Amino acid sequence: MGTVTITNHPLIQHKLSILRDKNTGTNEFRQLIAELAMLECYEATRDLPLQPKLIETPIGPCHANELAGRKMAIVPILRAGLGMVDGILKLVPSAKVGHIGMFRDPETHEPVPYYCKLPQDIEERDVFVLDPMLATGGSAVDAINQVKQYNPKSIRFLGIVAAPEGLQALQTAHPDVDIICAALDEKLNENAYIVPGLGDAGDRIFGTL
Ligand code: PRP
Ligand code: URA
Repeated sequence: MGTVTITNHPLIQHKLSILRDKNTGTNEFRQLIAELAMLECYEATRDLPLQPKLIETPIGPCHANELAGRKMAIVPILRAGLGMVDGILKLVPSAKVGHIGMFRDPETHEPVPYYCKLPQDIEERDVFVLDPMLATGGSAVDAINQVKQYNPKSIRFLGIVAAPEGLQALQTAHPDVDIICAALDEKLNENAYIVPGLGDAGDRIFGTL
């Protein structure tokens, strides 16, 4: 069974409280999403294997460690997942970036896919699927179904705010996928928005409210 991590680091909780505030404007919102993604990436990469490397400091030899050749790919779910890309690339600049486009049908709340472009060598890579919102879970489940068709080495889901319904759906559909989010909220409302959540993440990132 994949692990579920709800990060409780004080910096993450502080930034999340500003993010949720309805008075936070687009510019700050976008910056906070990127910063939260970076902090979560730090948590999500905690178990990457290292290999020893002998280097020379200006003072003398040093037995250091480097990442053991792991290759990463990040796959944002458009649109809101795009907001998480830059923060993660700051920490892992060598990661390749795929894109999956989908939007929720306003009536059924089912995801409607419209785009998929993934790195060619994805089967050699550990994939992080990115979306700030895990509401019903439909988008994440579908996106991971698409990624799995290309047999990556592993898949993790990085979100920011999750609803219990979405977490359950994702775990049921993809029990092998580790899930990392900053908050587990109370519930979904009648429009399948997360309560208390932060509203529509895509609209708040891109100013399309
Ligand atoms: C939002 C969000 C997720 C999805 C989550 O996307 O960014 O992708 O809803 O909901 P779910 O867990 O119920 O599937 P939206 O459909 O608003 O598209 P957008 O990001 O392009 O605005
Ligand atoms: N998508 C969002 O952007 N926000 C929600 O609360 C649910 C889905």
